Amino acid sequence: MGLRGPTGKAALLRKVRLFEGLSDRQFQQIARLADEVDAPAGKVLARAGDTGREMFIIVEGQASVTTSQRRTLQLGIGDFFGEMSLLDGGPRSATVEAATPMRLLVIGQREFFVLLAEAPLISKCIMRTLSQRLRKADAAFSMCP
Ligand code: CMP
Repeated sequence: MGLRGPTGKAALLRKVRLFEGLSDRQFQQIARLADEVDAPAGKVLARAGDTGREMFIIVEGQASVTTSQRRTLQLGIGDFFGEMSLLDGGPRSATVEAATPMRLLVIGQREFFVLLAEAPLISKCIMRTLSQRLRKADAAFSMCP
């Protein structure tokens, strides 16, 4: 766990694309809702098939996502993952592992829904990212022999 207080965390949050355009008050609120966590390289942060109880936002480092189609893709600073299980209550759709040492902000399920209700811009960004990921997944699927 990191030792940063809400003000330090709010500074980290300002670097995250997901939170672009939010007010100071909203940054402070998210900082209160999110935990700062460090993970060593190789740590499995989400395992396909498991129940998911939190969403992760990458503040430092890189993660690799292995999808059910056995595709591997990289996520980096400002990207988020783990939102799918929170949104639909289903199991983790992919395995996500720290590819390097990482620093993450972790938001639990209850706090996630508080955020979505309080900041429509965040919902919009999550929906946009889901659409982009679906398009890429479709494109990759149609390239399979
Ligand atoms: P979730 O299913 O909760 O846990 C695994 C996470 O990996 C998932 O949420 C997404 O955040 C992420 N993920 C799954 N598939 C993809 C993909 N095709 N592209 C990017 N991220 C993905």
